[in-house]
Amino acid sequence: MTSTPGAAGCPAHTSGGLLPLSATTMTREPEKVLQRLRQDWGSVAQVELEPGVPAWLVIGYREILTVARRENLYSRDARNWRLFQDGTVPPDSALGPMMFYRPNVIGADGAEHRRLRRPLDDGVAAIDQRRMRRAVEALCTRLVSRFVERGHAELVGEYATVIPSLALADLFGFDAGESDELVSSLRALFGSAEDALEGNRRFERLLRRVVQDRATAPADDLTTRLLQHPDLRDEEEVVQSMAILLSVSQEATSDWISQSLRVMLTDSRFVGRMRGGRLGVDDALDEVLWRTPPVSNVPARYALADTELAGRMIKKGDALILGVAGANQDPAVLGDGSAQEQGNRAHLAWSAGPHACPARTPARLIAHTAVKTVLHMLPDIRLTIPAEEIPLHFSPWMYGPKSLPVSFTPRS
Ligand code: HEM
Repeated sequence: MTSTPGAAGCPAHTSGGLLPLSATTMTREPEKVLQRLRQDWGSVAQVELEPGVPAWLVIGYREILTVARRENLYSRDARNWRLFQDGTVPPDSALGPMMFYRPNVIGADGAEHRRLRRPLDDGVAAIDQRRMRRAVEALCTRLVSRFVERGHAELVGEYATVIPSLALADLFGFDAGESDELVSSLRALFGSAEDALEGNRRFERLLRRVVQDRATAPADDLTTRLLQHPDLRDEEEVVQSMAILLSVSQEATSDWISQSLRVMLTDSRFVGRMRGGRLGVDDALDEVLWRTPPVSNVPARYALADTELAGRMIKKGDALILGVAGANQDPAVLGDGSAQEQGNRAHLAWSAGPHACPARTPARLIAHTAVKTVLHMLPDIRLTIPAEEIPLHFSPWMYGPKSLPVSFTPRS
């Protein structure tokens, strides 16, 4: 059976409507929604990004590998998106931040992508893991100390969302004042619409100042390593590389921490661990990457020619979203689900191909330390609402709780 975005054809949506992409993330049971989508469509489903804006959601494991690896057929450059070229998607669309072209590592293909990517890979490879672990432990301890006497906290807002940017600020060599400035500018940037522009200006001003400082006084930090990298042409490219690292890491890592804490606090296989039970923090981190990956739907690839994928006719200029949450439960590859056993990390939560996340090791270090520290410092921590009432944040791309209210015995 073949069809193209815009055409009807899904047996489950005979009323003409396609499933909105957000239906796969704004649900407490994403696995059920994705299973249904697979029954209706197979490995490549048609969904709607916005009313009137269809796209392909790739939920086959092998098909995601094909799309992510064949960049000469599936480009990362959104200027190839037909619905943007023909004005169906307006320039002020809410899809912009996740999908529109920007001249950076994310929007580039081929040689230009490798040029912008090498400094990130080399920078990550040069991280001193022991030093970073100590710094993240100190950071997490400091954050828990702020609410330890209170007896209650909200772990998403007060903890998980603050950790990724502060951990990276330390790698970049920011001092305490610069780190505070970073948190407040990012809060404005990701917060209310009125503050967002000013937040972005403050964020970029801060990065430029640090880059200029290191240009005259090099130090043993990631900023200096990026500045000295032969593939980055000028200070502006260093600033943009830092901005990408900070912005991409923020929500994904925060969701990974929050979801793993949720698992540790609510799933009976894990709850026992805090009192000597069976499964530990690394198992919870892996469970989340398999079942509810933080970036559940990875945006986007654009077909450079008419082609066929799992029986679907993909037209030149169509957008394809990598539905990694769906692919992680693909029975064609993963059989009965036993692949999700302890220790198996063959999931696609980091995506695949040349754009796959370059920061798995530091991201795991941050998330592991964050989860472990809070459980260690607050041994009798418990959720104050039933697990099924934990609110989710709204995003068609990301999956995670909006808040995690907890209580514990106050300590001085
Ligand atoms: C320290 C934290 C992190 C940093 C610095 C980081 C950095 C990055 C960067 C720079 C990219 C763009 C790579 C490129 O286009 O070549 C990227 C992509 C990505 N990252 Fe991460 N990331 C972090 C944490 C995470 C986490 C926790 C997840 C989820 C488990 C994640 C999943 C992804 C995915 C799915 C992509 C998209 C790959 C694609 O387009 O195919 N990242 N990350």
